[in-house]
Amino acid sequence: MAVAVGEKHREVGKSGTVVPGPVLLLGAPGVGKGTQAQAIMAAWGIPQISTGDILRSNVSGGTELGKKARALMDRGELVPDDLVNQMVADRLQLPDTAKGYILDGFPRTLGQAEWLDSYLAERSGGLPVVAVSIKVGYTQLLRRITGRRNCPVCKSIYNIYLQPPKVDTLCDLDGTPLARRSDDTEEVFEERMRTYESLTAPVIEHYRACGRFQEVDGELPVDAVTAAVMAAVLRLRGAAS
Ligand code: AP5
Repeated sequence: MAVAVGEKHREVGKSGTVVPGPVLLLGAPGVGKGTQAQAIMAAWGIPQISTGDILRSNVSGGTELGKKARALMDRGELVPDDLVNQMVADRLQLPDTAKGYILDGFPRTLGQAEWLDSYLAERSGGLPVVAVSIKVGYTQLLRRITGRRNCPVCKSIYNIYLQPPKVDTLCDLDGTPLARRSDDTEEVFEERMRTYESLTAPVIEHYRACGRFQEVDGELPVDAVTAAVMAAVLRLRGAAS
């Protein structure tokens, strides 16, 4: 079954009263950032900017950035801040970010967070970021990572244990054979978690201290998490309580 893409939540965007602005989705590997970003993108018509996806497309395209990133990603380590910050700066120049965007997997070091804060402060008139952190326990994260499969064509996200496709390991939407990410092994997941605890957990504390921050329970079914994330964004924007 492909991830729900927020059908139930579309009307919020149609009301015309919500301008989501920059939304950060934070959380450990496998909490559901990409799944939720796809749902919100469909509901509110704002782009998902996933630094992991941009890096993977550079790796598969054999670019200079991809060559630098590949080994680091396969080991579960982070790509240097200056490379990732530049990549995000380039993406934020595109006009589709005017009403808002979801940053998925960025920032994940304090250096990236400080860079983003000053980058946005220099862009006059923009809304400040709101940050939503998704929480899921370790055992469930491991199941999500080792069971994850992606459609290489339409990017739909599945899980052979939790969100299986209807037929074998083929995408429900276009029939493409699903793929497994090279960093979705138990061994690399453990390293990604160590990296997360040492470098990314402080980013969550940074945004908690800034306010405009909310934590949501990511162990619920996909649609329930989507509803909680969207309610959190609306509340943090003062559009709902
Ligand atoms: P990245 O691609 O960002 O990986 P990640 O942060 O580890 O997160 P994931 O993509 O693994 O998980 P997710 O939270 O998006 O979960 P998903 O929705 O897929 O980064 C990869 C690498 O790139 C990094 O290790 C690093 O090397 C580099 N990189 C990226 N950004 C960087 C940066 N800013 N700085 C430096 N380096 C960077 O869901 C997971 C599974 O769970 C799926 O199978 C899904 O179907 C299932 N699932 C989701 N929600 C639910 C639910 N509610 N119930 C049941 N199943 C669910």
